[in-house]
Amino acid sequence: MNEHVARDLERARARTLHLTDLDEPTLVAQHDPLMSPLIWDLAHIGQQEELWLLRGGDPSRPGLLPPAVDSLYDAFKHVRADRPGLPLLPPVEARAFNIEVRARVLDLLDRTPDDDLFTAGMVVQHEEQHDETMYATLQLRQGPPVMVGEALPTGRRLGHERAFVEGGEFVLGVDSAQEPFSLDNERPAHAVDVASFWIARVPVSTRQWRDFIADGGYQRRDLWSRRGWAHRVDADLTRPMFWTDEGTRRRFGLEEDLPADEPVQHVGYFEAEAFATWSGARLPTEVEWEKACAWDPTTRARRTWPWGSSAPTATLANLGGAALRPAPIGAYPLGASAYGVEQLIGDVWEWTSSDFTPWPGFTPMVYRDYSEPFFGGDYKVLRGGSWAVAPSTIRPSFRNWDHPIRRQIFTGLRLAWDA
Ligand code: AVJ
Ligand code: FE
Repeated sequence: MNEHVARDLERARARTLHLTDLDEPTLVAQHDPLMSPLIWDLAHIGQQEELWLLRGGDPSRPGLLPPAVDSLYDAFKHVRADRPGLPLLPPVEARAFNIEVRARVLDLLDRTPDDDLFTAGMVVQHEEQHDETMYATLQLRQGPPVMVGEALPTGRRLGHERAFVEGGEFVLGVDSAQEPFSLDNERPAHAVDVASFWIARVPVSTRQWRDFIADGGYQRRDLWSRRGWAHRVDADLTRPMFWTDEGTRRRFGLEEDLPADEPVQHVGYFEAEAFATWSGARLPTEVEWEKACAWDPTTRARRTWPWGSSAPTATLANLGGAALRPAPIGAYPLGASAYGVEQLIGDVWEWTSSDFTPWPGFTPMVYRDYSEPFFGGDYKVLRGGSWAVAPSTIRPSFRNWDHPIRRQIFTGLRLAWDA
């Protein structure tokens, strides 16, 4: 078996177990109507692993769970708000199920040729995505901390804030030859012409967001789109989620001073758009974002990572979840792209102005309903991954999506300008 896939499966599971190493009431509770109980995510991870790797993606094929229990973990059958009312497997049974599935999967993968491991890589990414979802659930949870964040590198003040990206063709998206574990919505690679633009070298900071608030950003209707303003009034938005009246924020059970030089987190698309307008800027399109991240104008080729081909390390990007927060602005000079743009990978998901649509020539992968049902829906594309994302589940081509009003995920933004 390809040892990378085995190692990634093991890493994902270690993280899942760390995130669910909690008492039963904490696992069973629904901490917010937007989220599943952690105990749902836990068994859904194993149920999906069994479905894609042991049951050939066919839910009518018998599995380890009785059909009525198996179907509790079908995300299309039960919306998140209804999941706590379901007769879910208790933690002990969920863990035992996951262990049994994993043992069978490792046995099967031992006999799987290396070029046939896409589905296993997809299952790794599915588990890692639910791990990030569980971080979001634990951030929403009320009560004392259950996790402590690890230290991060210090930041630095940047002299030039914008990078110029010369117009012209570049290659958007990837193929399986370069990125064997890229998901369906990242493919195929195709040439796209992009007009010249400017993009901020770093994400928007908490300090900048405070200035926006102080300047009446949440009161000035002219800064908001029509739909954005209607939502701003409806939801009574006055500041990012988890900020308090006292100028502090709540983060994983702690209340702490707002770090001025950290990328702002927990803002929705409509707020991001209003902030960009206030700044005399706009959000980048996802195509611009990907060019600034992956394109090398000297070699006229894509890079695997913004900084080159070496795997992410603690001096290149803030990934993996251990920090429980974004790193300070300017913390990763070595992680800069060919255009000098920093912190594209990790820290915060960045809202783009793009709707979620397929690339020309899109073909659904074995998990046919991963992307396709969401194309053309009320979603905006997010890029680059957050601090909670695992290295195996982020690439310059990786596309995430969510409703524009959502802000419980680890979202921020970066500004762009027409040239
Ligand atoms: C790609 C993050 C939007 O969580 O809804 C997990 C990932 N799909 N299980 C989501 C996913 C099925 C998906 N996002
Ligand atoms: Fe899922």
